[in-house]
Amino acid sequence: MAAEPDKVLIFDTTLRDGEQAPGCSMTRPEKLRVARALAELGVDVIEAGFPAASKGDWESVQAVAREVEGPIIAGLARCNREDIELAARALADAPRRRVHVFLATSAIHRQYKLNMAEEQILRTAVEGVRWARELCEDVEFSPEDASRTELEFLAQVVEAAIEAGASTVNIPDTVGYTVPDEFAELFRYLRKNVRGIERVRLSVHCHDDLGMAVANSLTAVVAGARQVECTINGIGERAGNCSLEEVVMALKTRAAFFNVTTGIQTTRLYPTSRLVSSITAMPVPRNKAVVGENAFAHEAGIHQHGVLKHYSTYEIMRPEDVGLSRSNLILGKHSGRHAFRDRVRALGFELEESELNQVFEEFKALADRKKELFDGDIEALVLRAEGAAVGPWSLEGLETHATTGALASARVRLRHSDGRQIEHTAEGDGPVDAAFKAIEAATGIGVMLRKFEVRAVTEGEDAQGEALVYVEYNQRTYRGSSVSTNIVESSGRAFLEVINRIEQAAAGGRSRDERGAAAQAASTL
Ligand code: KIV
Ligand code: ZN
Repeated sequence: MAAEPDKVLIFDTTLRDGEQAPGCSMTRPEKLRVARALAELGVDVIEAGFPAASKGDWESVQAVAREVEGPIIAGLARCNREDIELAARALADAPRRRVHVFLATSAIHRQYKLNMAEEQILRTAVEGVRWARELCEDVEFSPEDASRTELEFLAQVVEAAIEAGASTVNIPDTVGYTVPDEFAELFRYLRKNVRGIERVRLSVHCHDDLGMAVANSLTAVVAGARQVECTINGIGERAGNCSLEEVVMALKTRAAFFNVTTGIQTTRLYPTSRLVSSITAMPVPRNKAVVGENAFAHEAGIHQHGVLKHYSTYEIMRPEDVGLSRSNLILGKHSGRHAFRDRVRALGFELEESELNQVFEEFKALADRKKELFDGDIEALVLRAEGAAVGPWSLEGLETHATTGALASARVRLRHSDGRQIEHTAEGDGPVDAAFKAIEAATGIGVMLRKFEVRAVTEGEDAQGEALVYVEYNQRTYRGSSVSTNIVESSGRAFLEVINRIEQAAAGGRSRDERGAAAQAASTL
């Protein structure tokens, strides 16, 4: 008889490693929305941030610890007292909390980053785990760059961390360097050579630099890992982290092979992916496995024919399993509230009655301008309403004039949450440029535009346009996005979101650069 499947814990680090990706930083309310969605998705652990990184990060971790029920809430810390105390304090109100301490162990990091000998690394790791245990029952230890660490030394550090009280040991492939067979071997080596390893939960944390994060995580599960660290849509440092939706659906679809289960409500995968994509303005590639637009689209006639006969001919998962219940049902201005609510639900969103009423009003207004509304339009309306206004600035009016062969002009009217109302006019090379310049002049914040994109969110000639704006300000990347049938308006709103993020970052703590400097000052332990 086959053994009862083991449970693999899903440790989501979208709010920590995911948020570290350039342009993916989130405000506190955004982090709370993502954390609530992750709890609904059924993740076991939410890594809510790195509390020592900045005041803003600390406050976000505290807010998630206070307000999000269900999963264990974790905070990252280097192996120094200050980081660990900050993490433990930020997590204090979480009913279930974990301090996650890390220290690099590879020769490259020891020599170039830390300038520490092996004995010092061992001592510091043990101290870090002990300090964390004084303040928190549940402690995870990560030997950063484990996959490039000498096996014998890695085993010594892991053994010492277990003796010092770590209950989870996470093995990161920090730079996405390993390959499946080698990584499985590393796990087997540790399980064979580390005393006490059977007492702890082994975890895996992979980056995607060579496109193998999911494969490496799955091979680690085969070799004994019982926690996978991952992010929604695979966002994260450089090429990103292991994608949560891919690893979860691989474990589910190939359950007979892996013989493990997870606690994930897979029907929440698609809505959660959309939410994170809209908040971070990181579009999901059309061909992305599991949650991409084309993941369940069959173009070739022979495939369509097969799927019509029986879905299993060309589909190994059902779109409904991941919460994608797309239909050809197109709503318009005659559609009633009931039909609208059913569609919103089918797309995976649960709205309070008052929110539904508000979104329905916006739906009606949009339906007056646009003949047919597709699922993408409805998603955009719901996500915009859920995320309403980052603040402190809001756009009260935007007027533009453009004629061929002459400079365009824009007039903006903005309101600040402190009560100021400011109007400004500017000229530019086209209406969008003029609108950006008018907003810069009105808010007094000048930025370097790095990237500007407009794409249609749905089909048809009256499709809504999503504008994405990336800028550089004080050597940091900020982004904004907005959707409207009027692309000059969506561009202006996206640009204003950027300005709002800059003001919020200034009010909410140190910038990433300052975080970097602080980290260096603390010898990057
Ligand atoms: O990639 C990495 O090594 C990390 C650790 C902090 C776990 O993110
Ligand atoms: Zn990482």
